[in-house]
Amino acid sequence: MKILIVGGGGREHAIAASVARSQKADKIYCAPGNAGIAQIAECVPIGPMEFDKIVSFAREKEIDLTIVAMDDPLVGGLVDELEAAGLRAFGPRKNAAVLEGSKAFSKELMKKYHIPTADYATFDSAEEALAYLESADFPIVLKADGLALGKGVLICQNLQEAKEGVRTIMLDKQFGNAGNRLVIEEFLTGREVSVLSFVDGKTIRPMTSAQDHKRAGDGDTGLNTGGMGTFSPSPFYTKEVDEFCKKHIYQATVDAMAAENREFKGIIFFGLMLTEKGPRVLEYNVRFGDPEAQVVLPRMKNDIIEVMEACMDGRLDTIDLQFEDNAAVCVVLASEGYPVKYEKGYVIKGLEKFEGQDSYFCFHAGTKQTSEGIVTNGGRVLGVTAKGKDLKEARKNAYTAAGWVFFDHKYMRHDIGKAIDEA
Ligand code: AMP
Ligand code: GLY
Repeated sequence: MKILIVGGGGREHAIAASVARSQKADKIYCAPGNAGIAQIAECVPIGPMEFDKIVSFAREKEIDLTIVAMDDPLVGGLVDELEAAGLRAFGPRKNAAVLEGSKAFSKELMKKYHIPTADYATFDSAEEALAYLESADFPIVLKADGLALGKGVLICQNLQEAKEGVRTIMLDKQFGNAGNRLVIEEFLTGREVSVLSFVDGKTIRPMTSAQDHKRAGDGDTGLNTGGMGTFSPSPFYTKEVDEFCKKHIYQATVDAMAAENREFKGIIFFGLMLTEKGPRVLEYNVRFGDPEAQVVLPRMKNDIIEVMEACMDGRLDTIDLQFEDNAAVCVVLASEGYPVKYEKGYVIKGLEKFEGQDSYFCFHAGTKQTSEGIVTNGGRVLGVTAKGKDLKEARKNAYTAAGWVFFDHKYMRHDIGKAIDEA
């Protein structure tokens, strides 16, 4: 088969690596890809929102399967456009991708179908939101309705902060049209866990659990980022939690989408908070997480193309999804100053150490090939993943491998997976 992957970060590199292991893949393309992906796929300079160019390319090259890995093109309807052109695509259609594209939609869905989540209210005007806050409890959470590069969530400690937040989102439009509507939500406490799953419209197969580290600094300090590292599985995702989620959350979400005539095929990523009262859904994403994919996919035993085809054909019930009985940790190597201000263009050394390894992976996020070699080209530069027989060993291995790579202004957290010591 000829496969096209849409995207160009660490997640797409992890997907490409899984696709490269598939018996079914003969040729892999990636749009736009990056310097790491270019080692296993042919990268084409087409952006993820250039739908016409993607469709033309897929037609011209007779692509058998396009994997749309990113939120923006999914929410924008790339899968619909590919299908309209008679092409096969993996990912939800536009009417189902709204599960991530609109927080107001997802909250309403959960309320209607009794899926456990934080209490909330939705507002179309700043005036009403400000009035509501006068009698609210704090801390409180403000969420811009639409996609905001993972930055549209503000946790506000008091009334003044919350009022400023409403102005930032709804009046100053810091996140653009994503802030036309606002969800105001109860603040939950507990441990966060990510569970990704394959969905075929009716059946859902959850993958092994993972945990992200969103803050830039050690000890969960500093600004929110796209993710500074992950580990899998989460020792806090117990059998009891799994049973609760299977009973009240996973299938319920798939059934709710079907009942709304928004049949969901693709990946649902459940962002869960394990509260004292039980698991609650914090958010849905309609794609693999980044960097969650970088610890989950290397542990998957199945042929990823077989699973994806089963999703598209509605026969996921025939798939026995299996993961290795081990653990993986991913440490993100970033450019100093990320997520605010950082420099690019520094030569990366040590990448050859990963060649021929099967328990160590160096997924590229922001890298570029130049005449001087591979250079840094983004805030998150690389995701260094290592496996181990358990989380402790995986963590040790990941930090050893993180030391194999050098570039100027390299920055990483030193406590990825430290939480496992408390388990
Ligand atoms: P989201 O984009 O909805 O995942 O939100 C980003 C982050 O904000 C989450 O990973 C949580 O750490 C935090 N968050 C979101 N909603 C809540 C909530 N209701 N209570 C506490 N923290 C939250
Ligand atoms: N790591 C969180 C996300 O991909 O949204």
